[in-house]
Amino acid sequence: DWTPAEILTEQVAAIRERIGDAKVICGLSGGVDSAVAAALVHRAVGDQLTCVFVDHGLLRAGEREQVERDYVAATGIRLVTVDASERFLSALAGVSDPETKRKTIGREFIRVFERAAAEIAEAEGGVKYLVQGTLYPDVVESGGGTGTATIKSHHNVGGLPEDMTFELVEPLRLLFKDEVRLLGAELGLPPAMVARHPFPGPGLGIRIIGEVTRDRLQILRAADAIVRAEMTAAGVDAQIWQCPVVLLADVRSVGVQGDGRTYGHPVVLRPVSSEDAMTADWSRLEYDLLARISSRITGEVTEVNRVVLDITSKPPGTIEWE
Ligand code: XMP
Repeated sequence: DWTPAEILTEQVAAIRERIGDAKVICGLSGGVDSAVAAALVHRAVGDQLTCVFVDHGLLRAGEREQVERDYVAATGIRLVTVDASERFLSALAGVSDPETKRKTIGREFIRVFERAAAEIAEAEGGVKYLVQGTLYPDVVESGGGTGTATIKSHHNVGGLPEDMTFELVEPLRLLFKDEVRLLGAELGLPPAMVARHPFPGPGLGIRIIGEVTRDRLQILRAADAIVRAEMTAAGVDAQIWQCPVVLLADVRSVGVQGDGRTYGHPVVLRPVSSEDAMTADWSRLEYDLLARISSRITGEVTEVNRVVLDITSKPPGTIEWE
């Protein structure tokens, strides 16, 4: 049995030994795995590491700030943020099919990351290593081979191009998620980041049913922020696996809001309990919490006039709607 402090000391020594004085890059997704992996490598080799955070414009409220401000303040990591939201939104224009969305987002992500990596390599005089937050369950799932250069948080939207020749550093390969969270806490990462629920690589792009537009993203972001704030305030985060909030952007229904009739959109709450996301059950959240969420969303997000609860287990329903 290892304590997080022991894992940290041992990993830092091993990483330092392996990397020597070479240069390293790491893509941050805002999720806990890449955040912990990068912090660990930074602890070992300091500013030989440069992190890249691609803002694809499909993030939730506050996520970019959490990485740029809180995470950087906590770790001292050197961070390059690429604001690519325009590019992703143009590429997604007219796209409603879920798989096409994933492919489009994956393709753009690789192009943006590749460009950023090339610029860093140029400035640093060559980059030898790429850090990835691969966990033990990912290693087992992929047959245990030495990793190919895919970006884990986007594993099902594409990998890195084959001509990117980095050696992989995967310091979390022997750890489970709960151990990674403990290690993150030991490294002093922001608590909200360490405790974060899973969030898909394609982000809000696959939580808007229909075409993804800037206006629709704004609506969903506002509704999602209310759901997360109320769930955290109610202290239920640890009881659930995740709670996607989904905007049915092509559906309208009649409502009465404020002074008159509206013809707005529904949002779906999809709170689920799960061990590993392979199967899931819908979470029996308190009615009072659901009521608060519903009245806040319909009161504060004027384009939404209905809040509905998804009571489907997985199977048959997947966790995400797309
Ligand atoms: P489903 O919807 O298949 O989701 O029941 C299972 C888990 O995987 C997450 N998910 C994704 N994660 N890229 C990701 O990185 C994706 O394209 C993607 N699709 C689903 C989902 O949030 C859930 O935790």
